[in-house]
Amino acid sequence: MGAEIMELYPEPGTERTLEGTYLSHDIRGRGTPEAPFVYANFVSSIDGRIAAAEADTDEPYVLEGLANSHDWRLFQELQAQADCQVTHGGYLRALAEGKFGDILQVGISEEARDIGAWRHERGLTEQPDVAIVSRRLDFPLPPSLEAHKQQVHIITGEDAPQDRVRHWRERGLDVHFAGTGRSVEGGAMTGVLGRRGYTRLYLLAGPEMMETVLRDRALSRLYVTLTHQIIGGEAFHTLASGPLLGDAGRLRLNTLYYDPQKPKGTGQWFSSFELGH
Ligand SMILES: NC(=O)c1ccc[n+]([C@@H]2O[C@H](COP(=O)([O-])OP(=O)(O)OC[C@H]3O[C@@H](n4cnc5c(N)ncnc54)[C@H](OP(=O)(O)O)[C@@H]3O)[C@@H](O)[C@H]2O)c1
Repeated sequence: MGAEIMELYPEPGTERTLEGTYLSHDIRGRGTPEAPFVYANFVSSIDGRIAAAEADTDEPYVLEGLANSHDWRLFQELQAQADCQVTHGGYLRALAEGKFGDILQVGISEEARDIGAWRHERGLTEQPDVAIVSRRLDFPLPPSLEAHKQQVHIITGEDAPQDRVRHWRERGLDVHFAGTGRSVEGGAMTGVLGRRGYTRLYLLAGPEMMETVLRDRALSRLYVTLTHQIIGGEAFHTLASGPLLGDAGRLRLNTLYYDPQKPKGTGQWFSSFELGH
């Protein structure tokens, strides 16, 4: 028996089960190699916290009370629809240090088998491939990528450290430049992956990557789970870093659902937005 949630927009009052809600968004037809569909997903508090920052805690990557099983279910339903997921060097370092679990494969845990079957039935590759965005190019590759035969692309700026570029190329990895300085630019990154045939790019990344794609108007859709709590705290991360975004940050509501149960009975909204430009 699935969890019950209520649709608030565009069909107010419709009851539905959580499971399948984002699979039903079925974005498979949305992107093309010329214009990949780029989407991201965050879980946030009402006061915009997505994580505690390092000054605040010894555990920089965990914010008590944000993560919850319903949000995780929908995260995976979105991941299952990607042909490439975009992560970054920081995540791979944190993964190797044991600060995070490995989330680079979808539909292989017992509870997510139906998500894997959804992907399989639609003839998609067993797992989405992986792009790693990085300036430093200093990260370990998790063994799960080779075990699941996921192709890996490394994306960096033209001024990347040459020894690190050589390091990865000598190991047979593709290193692509998508930016004129040290940083990757959102539009150039999307172009690099589109030219390799990818059409649906799922960002598994935080505020810096969000700024990168927003400022370049390279994001197509944003999913936000807004948990009904105010977390406070002195040092925290929010959805996008950097200076004011202006029009590049304008959104238009696409769907909205109400989950009364999680986290810990407070409730949360599952929202999705198209970019307003
Ligand atoms: N609540 C949520 O839904 C949610 C979602 C995502 C993240 N978070 C949390 O937010 C916090 C900060 O996010 P994060 O560190 O994961 O992600 P981030 O701020 O997007 O990115 C950090 C790393 O990505 C690479 N990077 C980002 N933009 C780049 C660019 N334009 N060019 C080249 N490299 C670039 C850099 O890697 P290198 O250092 O390798 O150069 C950088 O250190 C973390 O604690 C994370 O757990 C929460």
